[in-house]
Amino acid sequence: MNVEFSRLQATTRPAVLAHLQILSDEDRFTRFGLEMSEAALADYVDRINFNRDIVIGVLYRGLLIGVVHIAVFQHEGHPCGELGISVDSFCQGKGIGRMLFDHALEHARRRKVNSLRIQYLRRNGRMASLCRGLTTRFAQDGEETSCQIQLAEADPAAACRYEMNDGIELFHADAVAARAHVLFIHGVAGDGWQWRENFLPYFARHGLSSTALSLRGHGGSPARANQTLRGYEEDVYHVLEQLADKPVLIVGHSMGGFLTQRVLDGNQRIRKASLICSVPPWGLLPGTLEPVVEFMGDPLGKAIALQAAEGKPAYVNPDNISAQVQVIGGSRDRLIPPEVVAATARSYDTEAVIIEDAGHAVISSSKWQAVADQLLQHLR
Ligand SMILES: CC(C)(COP(=O)(O)OP(=O)(O)OC[C@H]1O[C@@H](n2cnc3c(N)ncnc32)[C@H](O)[C@@H]1OP(=O)(O)O)[C@@H](O)C(=O)NCCC(=O)NCCS
Repeated sequence: MNVEFSRLQATTRPAVLAHLQILSDEDRFTRFGLEMSEAALADYVDRINFNRDIVIGVLYRGLLIGVVHIAVFQHEGHPCGELGISVDSFCQGKGIGRMLFDHALEHARRRKVNSLRIQYLRRNGRMASLCRGLTTRFAQDGEETSCQIQLAEADPAAACRYEMNDGIELFHADAVAARAHVLFIHGVAGDGWQWRENFLPYFARHGLSSTALSLRGHGGSPARANQTLRGYEEDVYHVLEQLADKPVLIVGHSMGGFLTQRVLDGNQRIRKASLICSVPPWGLLPGTLEPVVEFMGDPLGKAIALQAAEGKPAYVNPDNISAQVQVIGGSRDRLIPPEVVAATARSYDTEAVIIEDAGHAVISSSKWQAVADQLLQHLR
């Protein structure tokens, strides 16, 4: 069978659900280790965090015939994962599960996930075969086997602290003898993990402590009844109040860049800011918002983008900002194109830094280090 493997995005939620729905009753049971009703299945798919988790599909002639989902979380300071895998009942036994499993492990190693846990039923011979030969610890509990796969040694320099602070998820990286503290703010449908993965350990290695938050309704921070830009702004103020080491730099991506500007309005204490693919100081005009909502594709992202827009008045007066502002964009960003980035930079009397070949999601792409190095330069 000629199959292709692809990293799945939030827009594929319906296809992932359809794949799980057509598994035979026995396969659905062995996949989850319990009876899953249609509602529980839909809830499981709704909760997949496509930013943080590793979700890979196997496609045959464009049809999704297998999915591996590694739910990524933090344990004892390091990224760990819980793996679940399934192949369409009529395609099993042909080596597809093995290829998908190996792809998932390769991705997990690249994403610096230290260990993986897999729960499966003792009678599941195929799953046992997939785990054989790896650095594993097995534990039997009745009918269930729990398999812990060690992928990498924990690197103490990459450790982060996790904190839930009044309903806001925070990741902190503490540098030895830190020379400054940095706060990172994500954009619509993002979360703190987007910074935790690469930026926080990288900054710690450069002598900078940092914190990344997940705004309420994102990542591990439960939603408010009513999510608006004003509410997100309050989340940032709350975190700023809570941080013992006050940040000298705030870094914001996309909507996080807009929140950065709002928070700096009239603030004399924070000396520097970096806006990455940021919403400009004049906000998103209705015509600009539509493509953003469209781009989100995912119902959750759409809902958040629309709710965020309701929090108007959404503009900033750059004259009220005393911090030195750095403005970064991506040459291939279609949401906040380079000309908007350049206009934002002009508003702050600076020149835009455009990262070549980078799109809107530059902070989670292979270009992240080019951005991180620009931020470090801005801090010098
Ligand atoms: C587990 C699953 C993903 C494997 O996918 P698959 O495409 O059937 O697997 P493959 O054909 O690649 O075979 C996987 C391994 O099992 C071995 N195998 C095949 N049939 C087997 C059997 N009856 N007993 C034991 N091992 C068997 C294969 O030789 C292969 O091992 P190898 O690569 O070391 O040679 C698939 O069977 C599935 O979706 N099951 C239902 C969901 C589930 O149980 N998920 C696991 C819990 S999360």
